[in-house]
Amino acid sequence: MDISVIGTGYVGLVVGACLAETGNQVVGADVDAQKIDGLKHNVLPIYEPGLDRLVERNQHAGRLDFTTDIGAAIARSDVVFIAVGTPPDGDGSADLRHVLNVAAEIGRHMQRELVVVTKSTVPVGTCARVSEEIEGFAHFPFHVVSNPEFLKEGAAVDDFMKPDRVVLGAQSDHARSVMAELYAPFVRTGKPIIFMDVASAEMTKYAANGMLAARISFMNDIAGLCERVGANVDMVRKGIGSDDRIGPAFLFPGPGYGGSCFPKDVKALIGTARGYGRCLRILEAVDAVNEEQKHVLFQKLQAALGPDLTGVRVAVWGLAFKPNTDDMRDAPSLAFIAEVLAAGGQVTAHDPVAMDAAKCVLGDTVAFAATSYDALRGADALAVVTDWNEYRHPDFPRIKQTLRRPIVIDARNLYAITKMAELGFAYYSIGRPTVA
Ligand SMILES: NC(=O)c1ccc[n+]([C@@H]2O[C@H](COP(=O)([O-])OP(=O)(O)OC[C@H]3O[C@@H](n4cnc5c(N)ncnc54)[C@H](O)[C@@H]3O)[C@@H](O)[C@H]2O)c1
Repeated sequence: MDISVIGTGYVGLVVGACLAETGNQVVGADVDAQKIDGLKHNVLPIYEPGLDRLVERNQHAGRLDFTTDIGAAIARSDVVFIAVGTPPDGDGSADLRHVLNVAAEIGRHMQRELVVVTKSTVPVGTCARVSEEIEGFAHFPFHVVSNPEFLKEGAAVDDFMKPDRVVLGAQSDHARSVMAELYAPFVRTGKPIIFMDVASAEMTKYAANGMLAARISFMNDIAGLCERVGANVDMVRKGIGSDDRIGPAFLFPGPGYGGSCFPKDVKALIGTARGYGRCLRILEAVDAVNEEQKHVLFQKLQAALGPDLTGVRVAVWGLAFKPNTDDMRDAPSLAFIAEVLAAGGQVTAHDPVAMDAAKCVLGDTVAFAATSYDALRGADALAVVTDWNEYRHPDFPRIKQTLRRPIVIDARNLYAITKMAELGFAYYSIGRPTVA
């Protein structure tokens, strides 16, 4: 099939490369000329495991191409995916400007019957607005499909290649059959393609992210109480996660959820509900707990070092919002670093992958270290913010020797409390007893 994917960010690039991998002829189109120029030379704008090889292989095979000429990409397509950003606008609801601009472009440039697939996360009713926008210009029949994306950054290629399920909101038989054909190679193990109406598909994406965010905020809330009552949240997590009705995923307490999806999607769903005169009380609490949780790490640092951090340097391990990505959007590290700097402290940071992306956000407000151990030099405490694998089994004696004071604040509960006590660290983690 001839496919174009409009928007070559985290989602669009993965979608385009994976569809090319199954033999389709794919063009990725983006307004960002620098990004497209890099992609043409196999230089990826993001870090995503396995994606570079996929892009290179399919470009080399002539199945994948990149362009800034969005009209030309649309004109040659049977299927157009819209994968542009939907950032929050002033009141937290999704800003649909990019999506609707692309819709107008589709109407202007389509040259044949077209299936238009909304991959961007958009509120209920957006596909109808996309249809209206296209309708204003179109001279050919078209079918707008809602196909929310559930990939996880850091495992995006695998998630797209082997999805748990594919959700498709479609109104016509033509759209259903084109989409079923397109996704057939990805669901060969029997994972379902779930067809539904468009509004339900749009809602499914927000409900899924709302549920996952709720599990995280629930555990963060429980972690706070564990600290007060002297329980260990890791034991509680194992105790409840082994119940089949609950399951073990997304029960890890931490510094609050971040990234490009959960914070904005939870807020957008709350906004949608308000627009319909409804209050989503559970999600409002999920959001409020998360806002509070962003301060917990800094509160622990202050418990260890006192309120005034003048002259204090903190080593930060991990900047990306989670491991295996360089995505800094809404990363918990940013909230923590901002608080340290505001209290007069200084920061030396390390991340295995996200330091270039972090430099774009943090500039020269913090120092960056080439290795995790370099970050410890002259630091009064170590804060582990992102659970990259390389931080899981560090050389503890070396950490203790290099830090000016043996203080470790662990946002991810990576280390055993008894071991940290034996080694002589002051050790603060989330929802577990403190080693003072
Ligand atoms: N990142 C994720 O993990 C994830 C997962 C599922 C769904 N989503 C959703 O997918 C959408 C895209 O997210 P992302 O993380 O890939 O965003 P992104 O910011 O990485 O990429 C968006 C791309 O769209 C391009 N763009 C903007 N306006 C354009 C236009 N008019 N024409 C062509 N290109 C344009 C931008 O230049 C950018 O390259 C969002 O709605 C997001 O909520 C993201």
